[in-house]
Amino acid sequence: MTDDTKSSNAMWGGRFAAGPDAIMEAINASISFDKRLYAQDIRGSRAHAAMLAATGILTNSDAEAIGEGLLTVLSEIEAGDFPFSTALEDIHMNVEARLKALIGEPAGRLHTARSRNDQVATDFRLWVRDQADAAITSLTALMQVLVAQAEKGADWVMPGFTHLQTAQPVTWGHHMMAYVEMFARDRSRFEDARKRMNECPLGSAALAGTGFPIDRHMTATALGFDRPMANSLDGVSDRDFALEFLSSAAICAVHLSRLAEELVIWSSAQFRFVAMSDKWSTGSSIMPQKRNPDAAELIRAKIGRVLGAAVALFTVMKGLPLAYSKDMQEDKEQVFDAADTLMLALAAMTGMMSDLTVNTAKLEAAASSGFSTATDLADWLVREAGLPFRDAHHVTGSLVALAEKKGCDLPDLSLEELKSAHPALTEAVYSVLGVHNSVASRQSYGGTAPDQVRAQVARWKGLLV
Ligand code: ARG
Repeated sequence: MTDDTKSSNAMWGGRFAAGPDAIMEAINASISFDKRLYAQDIRGSRAHAAMLAATGILTNSDAEAIGEGLLTVLSEIEAGDFPFSTALEDIHMNVEARLKALIGEPAGRLHTARSRNDQVATDFRLWVRDQADAAITSLTALMQVLVAQAEKGADWVMPGFTHLQTAQPVTWGHHMMAYVEMFARDRSRFEDARKRMNECPLGSAALAGTGFPIDRHMTATALGFDRPMANSLDGVSDRDFALEFLSSAAICAVHLSRLAEELVIWSSAQFRFVAMSDKWSTGSSIMPQKRNPDAAELIRAKIGRVLGAAVALFTVMKGLPLAYSKDMQEDKEQVFDAADTLMLALAAMTGMMSDLTVNTAKLEAAASSGFSTATDLADWLVREAGLPFRDAHHVTGSLVALAEKKGCDLPDLSLEELKSAHPALTEAVYSVLGVHNSVASRQSYGGTAPDQVRAQVARWKGLLV
């Protein structure tokens, strides 16, 4: 900390005689977390300096000194020996102060035609854009693992549930592909948000634009943006990109949590549909038999952080007048934590799903119990005997009651017993009471039949290359 930063801030302290109260410094400073934006801050400043030179606002030699000096700052930060200072508030002023120490007077020209308001909006947008890309990549990897699971088990029969009660037999592949569809929507939400956020706020200056003849198209292009933002007030006050990222992350986290919940249920001693590998299980310090699905439980729990971050930032933003308010400094920690949490959860789920062991015998036995083919019986009566579905439902219900009373399953009932419920029932009905026939018959588009599942697997394998 230099003396002039102690007494009053070197960056804006011209009209200040005294430095801030210690508590003021504590509430105001963001360097403890926004140092994470150092690479984006330096990238943005280099683009700005190059543009100031190209437009004749700065001399080439000043701009070169700034550009070089910023690279030195970058390598110092990356080497871990940068003297971050709380008195300098945030990453922007830390970088600029260090630049001044390195190159002297030209450093003071970098902030021409710029404000920290458009600077932070640009840095943060660049950071969030990278995270959207990372989410897209991670989701693709997860989808690939799920498609591979679906391909392996396109015809493994398992119980399909509604209300967590056995409903109808489905295939493992069909169940896996349901999640592929969900994660595909998540991925498209990130892609969509990325497109919309890819406009550059730099050059909005404090709020009103600038009188200097800057070239906003040049900086936008240099930073990989499609175009500059069209309104400078919007440029400094918009955090939609962060809200969209958090919203997309929250929905994705809900999907991860639902799959995690299924893994917790399926790996329990009562189900035993799946087993996590040693890499993805933990033991108990007291109960030697335990194999706990901790990673799945934590994924399920971490939705709270992601959703909490979204709610927090929505709450920060909802009452802010245009343009910049310091409230917006609260955007970063929420987004940082949500992004870290989401990436970790995606990686853990991908790892767990890639070496999950599926107990196909257990799946099939469970699929066959609980009168799971009752609908097939009712459908048979409609198809083969011309009964209205409601009547067929009633007849089948009476047979389920009979089987329940006898303690057996539907296929265990004798033909006489079936006929007692309805004379049109014949030997042929037994073929639809088997779970394999049941799933094979569900050939409607998007249905659970193995052929349908294989068609979806092939479609996604084509899309995911
Ligand atoms: N640290 C600030 C933030 O994150 C940077 C912008 C400060 N702007 C200002 N006018 N004080 O929002």
